[in-house]
Amino acid sequence: MRRIAQERPEDLWEIEQLFDLTFAPGRTALSSYQLRGDSPPIAELCMCLRDDFDVIVGAIRYWPIRIATDHGDVDALLLGPVAVHPTRQGEGIAAELILESLAIARARGWARVVLVGDAPYYRRFGFTRAPIQLPRPTNPERVLAKALVKGAMEGVAGKALPPANLKERADRP
Ligand SMILES: CC(C)(COP(=O)(O)OP(=O)(O)OC[C@H]1O[C@@H](n2cnc3c(N)ncnc32)[C@H](O)[C@@H]1OP(=O)(O)O)[C@@H](O)C(=O)NCCC(=O)NCCS
Repeated sequence: MRRIAQERPEDLWEIEQLFDLTFAPGRTALSSYQLRGDSPPIAELCMCLRDDFDVIVGAIRYWPIRIATDHGDVDALLLGPVAVHPTRQGEGIAAELILESLAIARARGWARVVLVGDAPYYRRFGFTRAPIQLPRPTNPERVLAKALVKGAMEGVAGKALPPANLKERADRP
């Protein structure tokens, strides 16, 4: 029976293989990786789906970011990467991972989620284009966001940055 579970340290190798398989070479040069830096993902939101043979066929990760708005910084989640093995795409696996992890994020008090992706896919989960600037090169049309709490995206526009604690760390001599 297929099942979703939180990613464990021992799953790392299998999940990295899955990301290498599904994304083009050089994925770590993508702009979203610049925001993640060396910071670890949010463990409780990183999930994988195992199939009947106990093989990981889908995975999703999240990182914390902040958005510098005119009214001050706000925290947000950066969704991604999310990937499903090519032989298992179209079965609703990514949808399960996205919906389950978003439900946990909401329950843990996160208010908003940002991602870089295809609007035709993510709009089914309530993601819409957002005026948030990610590091270059990012196509602004692919920057999408979703409020997990009513109104949490209202007036949220600005530059996406690593979380404040990382900045403090970087600023330290
Ligand atoms: C995108 C991805 C995660 C979707 O996983 P999945 O488990 O196949 O997705 P689901 O089964 O939940 O949804 C499948 C549906 O989404 C559609 N879909 C998939 N990718 C899409 C895209 N980029 N744009 C529009 N629709 C898309 C499929 O056509 C299918 O439509 P249908 O329900 O009408 O048949 C998977 O294709 C993948 O791993 N791709 C490579 C890595 C990648 O691009 N990740 C996303 C980075 S933002």
